[in-house]
Amino acid sequence: MAMVSMRQLLDEAAKGGYGVGAFNVNNMEQIQAIMEAARETKSPVIVQASRGARGYTNDRFLYHLMLAATELYPEIPIALHQDHGNSPETCISAIEMGFTSVMMDGSLMPDGKTPADFEYNVRVTREVVEIAHARGVTVEGELGCLGGIEDGHGADVDALAHLTDPDEAVEFVERTGIDALAVAIGTSHGAYKFTKKPTGEVLVMSRIEEINRKLPNTHLVMHGSSSVPKELIDMINKYGGKIKETYGVPVEEIQRGIRHGVRKINVDTDNRLAMTAAVRKVLFEKPEEFDLRGYMKPAREAMKEVVKARMISFGQAGNAGYAPIPLEQMAQKYREQPVTA
Ligand code: 13P
Repeated sequence: MAMVSMRQLLDEAAKGGYGVGAFNVNNMEQIQAIMEAARETKSPVIVQASRGARGYTNDRFLYHLMLAATELYPEIPIALHQDHGNSPETCISAIEMGFTSVMMDGSLMPDGKTPADFEYNVRVTREVVEIAHARGVTVEGELGCLGGIEDGHGADVDALAHLTDPDEAVEFVERTGIDALAVAIGTSHGAYKFTKKPTGEVLVMSRIEEINRKLPNTHLVMHGSSSVPKELIDMINKYGGKIKETYGVPVEEIQRGIRHGVRKINVDTDNRLAMTAAVRKVLFEKPEEFDLRGYMKPAREAMKEVVKARMISFGQAGNAGYAPIPLEQMAQKYREQPVTA
């Protein structure tokens, strides 16, 4: 199956009342892990690449790996998404390469660090929407700022000081015409999200409910949604790692979000932890090992298990069976409903 727009995946998820995990990739083994998990669970998938990942892979390698995925897994609907585009130029280069979805993160300035004002965010996001929709490509925007830094991107602000304002969210969606809205609810990228199991004071799920009440037809996106499983941290530390005590977003909280309009859930850190733990274990137990397949294979397997578990918990498992809508047809739909605000 050719790659499809992320909008189609999210519309299907809304119809079915489930969420779709968006998993970050940096290499072949991660793409393989996601695709195998998708096949075993019959799940549609969103594969996403940050700017850092595009730089690391030289994105043409990454793109061709994704084409291989469409050939080898024809039964799986796949969307290829630009995670945290820092400028219209980044998004346009992804669209030109063949990404079927882009995030224009205008919540930050192009340096990917400085919080931007509302009018700037509206302007750049709308600019990307016009270009992307003309080609049937999906656009995710973000309002409010996450804490933490990922691949050099992130304001590293106090996440609670920049939560998404529900009224602003309504205006933002109307004026930009985005397909999906990333909301800031106290999460941050990376392993160090919370110092204890999060309560509603630091992980403000009620904010999602408020936004969903005002924007019932907008697909919401949760970033920073790794659960940071204790067993993976313990395994890394057992085999020579040094990760401090930390807590992520409990899967039950994500499921609560899914009941209130969350359709895309970003997960990167959990997969990094799983692969690191597996590599450390092999190298600790077999210090003589130097064939990289000896540790990359268990690492790929470990990531596949995490992705499968998330696909099942988010409800996307068993939902791969729909026909692709060509991007040209998506573009036609957008032409019929232009943004007028
Ligand atoms: P985690 O660091 O929690 O996996 O979040 C990833 C993310 O939001 C990518 O945009």
